[in-house]
Amino acid sequence: MLHMEKPNTVTCTAPVNIAVIKYCKVWIYVTLHQDQLKTTTTVATSRSFQEDRIWLNGKEEDITHPRLQSCLREIRRLARKRSKDGDRALDSMRLSHKVHICSVNDFPTAAGLASSAAGFACLVYTLAQVFGVEGELSEIARQGSGSACRSMYGGFVQWIMGEEDNGKDSLAQQVAPETHWPELRVLVLVASAERKPVGSTSGMQTSVQTSRLLKHRAESVVPGRMEEMIEAVQRKDFAAFADLTMKDSNQFHATCLDTYPPIFYLNSVSQQVINLVHRYNRHYKETRLAYTFDAGPNAVIYTLQQHVPEFVQTVQHFFPPETNGGEFVKGLPIEQVALSEEL
Ligand code: ADP
Ligand code: DP6
Ligand code: CO
Repeated sequence: MLHMEKPNTVTCTAPVNIAVIKYCKVWIYVTLHQDQLKTTTTVATSRSFQEDRIWLNGKEEDITHPRLQSCLREIRRLARKRSKDGDRALDSMRLSHKVHICSVNDFPTAAGLASSAAGFACLVYTLAQVFGVEGELSEIARQGSGSACRSMYGGFVQWIMGEEDNGKDSLAQQVAPETHWPELRVLVLVASAERKPVGSTSGMQTSVQTSRLLKHRAESVVPGRMEEMIEAVQRKDFAAFADLTMKDSNQFHATCLDTYPPIFYLNSVSQQVINLVHRYNRHYKETRLAYTFDAGPNAVIYTLQQHVPEFVQTVQHFFPPETNGGEFVKGLPIEQVALSEEL
């Protein structure tokens, strides 16, 4: 009988982060730590494991994926370096052990809700715990996914990517800590949990090559908006924050349309949500809600705590629970509302 060594396991969680200014080289984003919209990753190491393996949401995935491989390789390289430097008495055996990774997202994967951000941030952080690596991990997370480096910091962050490919000259600056604006809430309306047809990275590459609107946006729009957004966050000016967020989301999707061939991330439910938000704000003669859409049809709604119950009722009214299999709101501060396609 084989001797099965008990595996060492480490479990961590990471939140998603949603960019409110979305340009492929500069972002301002919000990472709100909460009970929902998160990834939970467990990494086990054992002498008896024959190979590295990964399960995502219960299904085994291909470990040879280049993004996964570069994260694994980098963490092991740093671990080897540390153990050679004698910095930490890392069990050198562990370095040669294979890992089994088990990761679960409590929200739809690859549907424009930044699963790649939470997923790779969590993976890199958990691997680092397992192999005793400390320090700057966001660069490694970035090799998994562009947006993953951002889930390593909390609160409101400005991220300016440098020119160098290795990202050594990129700059993350916290605009405000999480505690700065405790009334701010995020609600997610799931219009479709399906996987997106075009991945974020390949979509953005085509946009850079083909969209003149993107060039205009980068040169003439984004820089001013970054400044205004930082001020809005610092002043906790929800109306200004909301207007900038919505305009930037709309322009991002306009550049997707301007990409050739065009990329459609929004669907008819997304458009209904956009209309609903504008009608709602007009009704109250006050900007109470903002939407933003990443590379997918699902809406992320920002609002203030005092408006959450009313807005949830409105959503229930316009998108009744019967049409979405009864799945509806899950506790505060994140509300995850499932919308059905056939409305
Ligand atoms: P999203 O809009 O959800 O970020 P992307 O296309 O950017 O969609 O990324 C989706 C990919 O990210 C998945 O196909 C998978 O490779 C990776 N991913 C998502 N969640 C995880 C996770 N928990 N652990 C590891 N990789 C993940
Ligand atoms: C439009 O970080 O998901 O959502 O590197 O392919 O994983 P990959 O790209 P990803 O890009 C997200 C782009 C965006 C806006 C944003 O959040 O930056
Ligand atoms: Co992504």
